[in-house]
Amino acid sequence: MRLRMLLCCTLMCPLALVAGQGQTSASDIPHLRKQGTATQLIVDGKPFLALAAELSNTGATSVEYMKPIWPKIVEAKVNTVLAGVSWNQIEPQEGKFDFTVLDGIIRDARSHNLRLVLLWFATWKNGQSSNPPGWVKRDFERFPRAQIVGGTWPVFGGGEGQPRAPFTGSIELFSPFGDATRDADARAFGAMMRHIKAVDGQQHTVIMIQVENEIGIQGDTRDRSPAANKAFEGPVPKELMDYLQQHKEALIPVLHKVWEAAGFKTSGTWEEVFGKGRPAEEIFMAWYFARYVERVVEAGKTEYPIPMFTNCPQSGFGTAPAPVRGGQSGGPMPDAMDVWRAGAPRIDIFGVDVYGFDFVRMCAGFTQSGNPLWIPETVGGLEGAARVLYGFGRHDAIGFSPMAGGIDRRLAPDYDLTAGYDLIAQLAPLIVQHQGTGTMSAVLLEPKDPPQKIQLGNYTLTVAFVRPRADRRGDPPPEPPTLAGAIFISTGPDEYFAAGFGVSVAFSPNTPGPPLAGLDTVEEGSFVNGRWVPGRQLAGDDTIEGDCLELKWPRKGEAPSLQSRMSREGIQRFTLYRYR
Ligand code: DGJ
Repeated sequence: MRLRMLLCCTLMCPLALVAGQGQTSASDIPHLRKQGTATQLIVDGKPFLALAAELSNTGATSVEYMKPIWPKIVEAKVNTVLAGVSWNQIEPQEGKFDFTVLDGIIRDARSHNLRLVLLWFATWKNGQSSNPPGWVKRDFERFPRAQIVGGTWPVFGGGEGQPRAPFTGSIELFSPFGDATRDADARAFGAMMRHIKAVDGQQHTVIMIQVENEIGIQGDTRDRSPAANKAFEGPVPKELMDYLQQHKEALIPVLHKVWEAAGFKTSGTWEEVFGKGRPAEEIFMAWYFARYVERVVEAGKTEYPIPMFTNCPQSGFGTAPAPVRGGQSGGPMPDAMDVWRAGAPRIDIFGVDVYGFDFVRMCAGFTQSGNPLWIPETVGGLEGAARVLYGFGRHDAIGFSPMAGGIDRRLAPDYDLTAGYDLIAQLAPLIVQHQGTGTMSAVLLEPKDPPQKIQLGNYTLTVAFVRPRADRRGDPPPEPPTLAGAIFISTGPDEYFAAGFGVSVAFSPNTPGPPLAGLDTVEEGSFVNGRWVPGRQLAGDDTIEGDCLELKWPRKGEAPSLQSRMSREGIQRFTLYRYR
């Protein structure tokens, strides 16, 4: 078996030959490192900010399909591509691994100077199982399905508005109680990671791995297969009870409350310890999904221990008796983060998929108890540009990645997002320097939001949403965009950098001394290769006669010039002074 795998790796992959076989230490390969309260992704020894985009689910299953797309991705100022690798693609026959397509994707990403985050689409994806190879799907005795009772299935059936048919039986989801499925997934994942180390262990084109995709069960709150029922009637495993007791004061509040409501028991069945109903069933599923994933991650990290994460679109335990798509039960969501940590300690990051309008709430939820912010799936456009400033500035994000069907499916360039990425790319040296130090922050404001106060350095910044003004007097003001965003970095006692759009900023001192603050120098400019290149010296109209700093809205429809305008006008460096 090992010889065959080795043969298959070396023969099929010219990539391996150039990789050089030198020994790599853990500090050389992509890894995570703490800086103050932040966690940074280190690539080639330096902190790396992933300005990413996710391909459509199957974009990376064809090297030819991707050829015309790579240049567009580079143009969009993206430095990292999230690409799905499907189990059935790399192990179409049991024990026979084919990395040809994966090698082509790694080679072509590398030749476009792009990094890759690979998404291991294997046992589970979106609460279902469409990616395992046929030899797994067909052998349902050996690889058992999850079962639901009185749930609803198929989740997507029952046409718009049609009630979903009640359903009892096996569903197209492999049960987390299927040890053979787990071991087969782990073996394939291990083989892939061994191969990636062989062909990319020196170049580090692949910087992180997502294990499975949006894990959870739909159609019912838990698996009700015989193995699942036996486990549910049994005691809560000691490892989980030990973890809860050891971390009792630091548990995610929602989980703490669920456990408290049932009396903080330290042993008993799932219902005795967590009470009756959904949270208990969701915690039960979270544990067994986590235990399964832990085995897969272990197999992968044994070969090549680069950072590994999960992704999840839920903020917390659901309430629906029969979860539907996007609301699956048991996934790596904030409310279940402690259960996932206890069950899958090798997972480095719980990533958040957030398309809806609750970006601020989702970021807050997923950054509880020190979990780094990593956003594998979100939206682009002007909203994406505002969100990326907020993610990096307010939550020391590791990376940001719109998906929305896949960047390869976009018909027109996303100038707004590109402008946002350009701002972050220019500020990157400052951002990685200030992450985790309390000297950086950011806002995300909707038209309805009141001004926000930020304590940063020696001053309090009062940041307000600015409604775009009409170009001509008497014209109705244009409809305001839905989201304004700005990042602020305190680089000295009275010096700051600000970047973004759609806000005005007023200042007041927050340390003893003269009580009033004023704008001293304000210059707009850009960073060229890390060096600040000042442009206009702003005052008068451009600082509302000295009252406040203004980061203007990009004028819609200026697409190509938007980039150049934003990169020229989007960053301001200013100093403040105090008086009485
Ligand atoms: C979220 C999933 O994680 C993605 O793979 C994709 O299915 C999107 N939903 C919908 O395109």
